[in-house]
Amino acid sequence: MKFFIDTANLKEIEEAASYGILDGVTTNPSLMAKEGIKGRDAIRNHYKHICEIVGKGDVSAEVLATDYNGMVAEGRELAALNGNIVVKIPCTPDGIRAIHTLTEENIRTNCTLVFSLTQALLAAKAGATYVSPFVGRLDDISEDGIALIEDIVDCFARYCYATEVLAASIRHPQHVYRCIKAGADVVT
Ligand code: G3P
Repeated sequence: MKFFIDTANLKEIEEAASYGILDGVTTNPSLMAKEGIKGRDAIRNHYKHICEIVGKGDVSAEVLATDYNGMVAEGRELAALNGNIVVKIPCTPDGIRAIHTLTEENIRTNCTLVFSLTQALLAAKAGATYVSPFVGRLDDISEDGIALIEDIVDCFARYCYATEVLAASIRHPQHVYRCIKAGADVVT
């Protein structure tokens, strides 16, 4: 099982890496803004720093574009920054198309903002390397985030998809514990 850290804070990433148990990093535009990193070039330089700290681990870098052409172009640029970059793309119709295109070019992707089993299956069919179901956000609206993790893990095993289940929007230790029991591939 992999542990990623969901932050753009270099000190937090360095500390997690120092324990020898860090397998990767997930970020998003809000986490970048929280660190005061703004603008295309600054964000890309920050990704390069994160990749240096993480070494072999995967680093999810999210596209800012929301249309198909924009996401594909940005995905290619982000992937070219470092071999460890995984392009994070939202689970929208254009996002699914972009994941398919980037997969055909051997660019790895993380399909984010996944809130249902059917969304996860679409992302896997498009070739996503990871799917990111938002556990805490589902709990927030009286749904069961962990039940979704269980359903996706079962579904991918049954239909033999290699796509990894990356449990995101993790809020507390009980979420981590239950993701381990459910067989999630990653918690962030
Ligand atoms: O990995 C997704 C995460 O950044 C969202 O977490 O706690 O804001 O729902 P949260």
